[in-house]
Amino acid sequence: MSDVTMRIWRGDPAGGDFEEYALEAQEGEVVLDVVHRIQATQAPDLACRWNCKAGKCGSCSAEINGTPRLMCMTRMDQLPEGPVTVAPMRTFPVVRDLVTDVSFNYEVAKRIPAFEPPARPAEGYRMQQIDVERGQEFRKCIECFMCQNVCHVIRDHEENKPHYAGPRFFIRLAELETHPLDTNDRRELVRQRMGLGLCNITKCCTEVCPEHIKITDNGIIPMKERVVDASYDPVGWLGRKIMRRPKRSPEEAAAGSSS
Ligand code: FES
Repeated sequence: MSDVTMRIWRGDPAGGDFEEYALEAQEGEVVLDVVHRIQATQAPDLACRWNCKAGKCGSCSAEINGTPRLMCMTRMDQLPEGPVTVAPMRTFPVVRDLVTDVSFNYEVAKRIPAFEPPARPAEGYRMQQIDVERGQEFRKCIECFMCQNVCHVIRDHEENKPHYAGPRFFIRLAELETHPLDTNDRRELVRQRMGLGLCNITKCCTEVCPEHIKITDNGIIPMKERVVDASYDPVGWLGRKIMRRPKRSPEEAAAGSSS
């Protein structure tokens, strides 16, 4: 059995560096398995976050050989030979070792008015299949925040965070804004206060998404066109809701008014 060398970033908010761990390779392992073996045998104080080990909770995100990936879904035998580096996501503050503080994302989420359906008609709601499928595409998100991590608008510019929601939340906004039964209006929010215009669609977010959501093509690009041109109404896409429903501003939504 061959050996494997892991270079894992160890440190805290004050600073840190990579430390090397050599151990025997085991067949079928993913990066998270190896990190757990290091915890069990060499570094019991090594901090990492994980939960499902099935690519569904989004908590084990890290930068593996410089690329954001889920540790639990990255097979060791598919990485190039040589040391494997594992580092915390750079866009978020380090708590310790591989654990970052991703609370920025939850603060953004709190600012987005929730889905608000109209009063239920006697015959019940009916949605077209195309509207169901569009929402499902965005709801595949597991909130691993790797798209947020690679977005250069906040990765390289901490000062942009108060003004920018990031790709994960642009698709959340797209999901809500294109829902034909939703009555809230978040266009001014996404345009003026969540910085949609700062995105220049480099598609890094789409490339790293473990659920293969077309974040830019199906979410951000149509969203940009939608908030710039209120009459934009491509067939079967954004604009369906505005043609059908009265809308409420975030302030009206927060006040709980119904229009
Ligand atoms: S542990 Fe849940 S996605 Fe990796």
